Amino acid sequence: MTFTINSTLEMANSVKIPIFGLGTYLLTGNQGQKAIECALKVGYRLIDTATLYNNEKIVGNALKNTKVPRDQVFITSKVWNSDQGYSRTLNAFNKSLSNLGVDFLDLYLIHWPVEGKWKDTWHALEELYIKGKVRAIGVSNFYISHLEELLKIASIKPMVNQIEFHPFLYKKDILEYCQEKGIVLESYAPLTHGYKINDIKSPQFLQLIEKYNKSAAQIMLRWNIQLGNVIIPKSINPSHIKENAEIFDFTISVDDMHYLDSFNEDFHSDWDPSD
Ligand SMILES: NC(=O)c1ccc[n+]([C@@H]2O[C@H](COP(=O)([O-])OP(=O)(O)OC[C@H]3O[C@@H](n4cnc5c(N)ncnc54)[C@H](OP(=O)(O)O)[C@@H]3O)[C@@H](O)[C@H]2O)c1
Repeated sequence: MTFTINSTLEMANSVKIPIFGLGTYLLTGNQGQKAIECALKVGYRLIDTATLYNNEKIVGNALKNTKVPRDQVFITSKVWNSDQGYSRTLNAFNKSLSNLGVDFLDLYLIHWPVEGKWKDTWHALEELYIKGKVRAIGVSNFYISHLEELLKIASIKPMVNQIEFHPFLYKKDILEYCQEKGIVLESYAPLTHGYKINDIKSPQFLQLIEKYNKSAAQIMLRWNIQLGNVIIPKSINPSHIKENAEIFDFTISVDDMHYLDSFNEDFHSDWDPSD
């Protein structure tokens, strides 16, 4: 499998999404903005933000400061729970555009399936898409039962489902479901929010680190893209930002992919959508 930092996946509407980008949860202030600018310099071409992260303005500042043209950076934002419902979502979207200083988004997601609200929220996303204000729409934290409900009421199918996904939370059923329905799976917290990276002392990881001459973080990220997913690791540290991008010069063998699959322990670093 050959991937590069510029590789993309084609979504159901033929729009291309980079397979690799920067997560921005907790990236705030000047240091956060510098981290985003650093990532753009290293070659990241997807930036994942959300109203909840309270950092759309610094993402916008970083976009203004970069030499990379707007149409070469894929920008995602998400509608937060308190903004859900039809008209509130339309307002929240406009606020996000203004905070980011852009006139369209590449991807807009429902952040969480808020009971009683998310269907109206979806219809607002459909309207934004039809009006050409966003190039693709999708959901986040939707498990199979939510997706089944959504597919029943949607006139436009979701192009992406962003869920927590890493070797310690290997949601194979959702991955297969999304692949069958033509929905791109975007893995959030691909580094377990940092929790399991300290497990590099584990003899299992050590063996792989030695064999591939890569860090535990790099092995986890590579596993994810070899499964066909988009990944959005977050870091504020320039050396981690660079390290996380150096995953395109090795391939994990089929046996080692299965070995990493076996790390699954249903470990959620974030809330569990099925709970
Ligand atoms: N849709 C949702 O509900 C949802 C939920 C959670 C996250 N997300 C998105 O997914 C993105 C990624 O998830 P996340 O931020 O929770 O966690 P993550 O990317 O899995 O992990 C980030 C943590 O790992 C550390 N780290 C990064 N690279 C490292 C490396 N090479 N070696 C050692 N440590 C490293 C970071 O520390 P340093 O910063 O010090 O490097 C930070 O503590 C978020 O930023 C956000 O955009 C979405």
